Amino acid sequence: MTTIRPMVAGNWKMNGTTAALREPRLLAGILRGVKLKCDVLICPPATLIRRAKSVMRGSKVKVGGQDCHAAISGAHTGDISADMLKDAGATAVIVGHSERRTNHKETSAQVAAKAQAAHKSGITAIICIGETLDERKAGKTLAVLSEQIKASIPSGCTAANTVVAYEPVWAIGTGLTPTVAEIAEAHAHIRAELSTAMPGEGPSTRILYGGSVKPSNAAELMSVANVNGALVGGASLKAVDFIGIIKAYL
Ligand code: PGA
Repeated sequence: MTTIRPMVAGNWKMNGTTAALREPRLLAGILRGVKLKCDVLICPPATLIRRAKSVMRGSKVKVGGQDCHAAISGAHTGDISADMLKDAGATAVIVGHSERRTNHKETSAQVAAKAQAAHKSGITAIICIGETLDERKAGKTLAVLSEQIKASIPSGCTAANTVVAYEPVWAIGTGLTPTVAEIAEAHAHIRAELSTAMPGEGPSTRILYGGSVKPSNAAELMSVANVNGALVGGASLKAVDFIGIIKAYL
C-alpha cells in the first residue's frame, strides 16, 4: 500500500490586501514547532505571494498561485506565467478551478497546457475537476470526471509535480457538501482513472477534496478513502479556521 502525504491547500481567491498578511504570519506562528503530518500551502492573490512567503520565513507553510498562463512570457496583458509565480516564491499553482472554467471559459485543453507550463517552470500543478449540480442530478458525475481527467491532465505528470482536486461546483462556497459515500465514489473513480492518465503514478498521486470544507467537517471528510487532503476556499482566509482544518492531520 502506498502512503501518501496529504496536503491542505488554501485558495484565497480574489481576497486580501496587505492587512491580510497577518493571517499567514499567525498561521506560521501557530504551526511553529508542530510536527505536521501534511503539507500546508496557501495560495493568496499573486500580489501577496512574495510578501506572504516573507512573513512566514522559516515556516514549513508553502505559498502558491491561483492560475497561470500556458506561455512562459509574451504579449498577454494582465496574465501571469508559472515562471513569474516561481520567481515570486510559489511552489505550486492551482489550474482549472471551476471559477476559471466558468468565468474565463477555460477549456480542459487550456488547463492541461497550464499544468504543463507549471511543470516546465518546476512548480506543482493542482488540477481541479468537478461536476455541476445539473450534471450530478443527471447522473453524469463519473462520466464528467473521466472526461475532465482525460483532457485536463497532460502527459508527463508525476505524483511529485501534480495534485488533483475534486471540487463539485455546487459545493463551492455554498455550505453544501456531497455525502461521504458520494465523495468516496468520486475519489475511487478518480483514482482508477489516474492509472491511465498518469501511468505508474496514479496510486501515489494526491487527490484533494474541495468545496465547503470547514473545521467542523474536515475530520470526517479527510477520513474518506482516497481523500488525501483538502482544497479550502473561504475557511482558509482566517488562520484559526484553516488551523481547524489542518488539525484533521495532527
Ligand atoms: P470553499 O471553496 O471552501 O469556499 O467552498 C473551495 C474552492 O473553491 O477551492
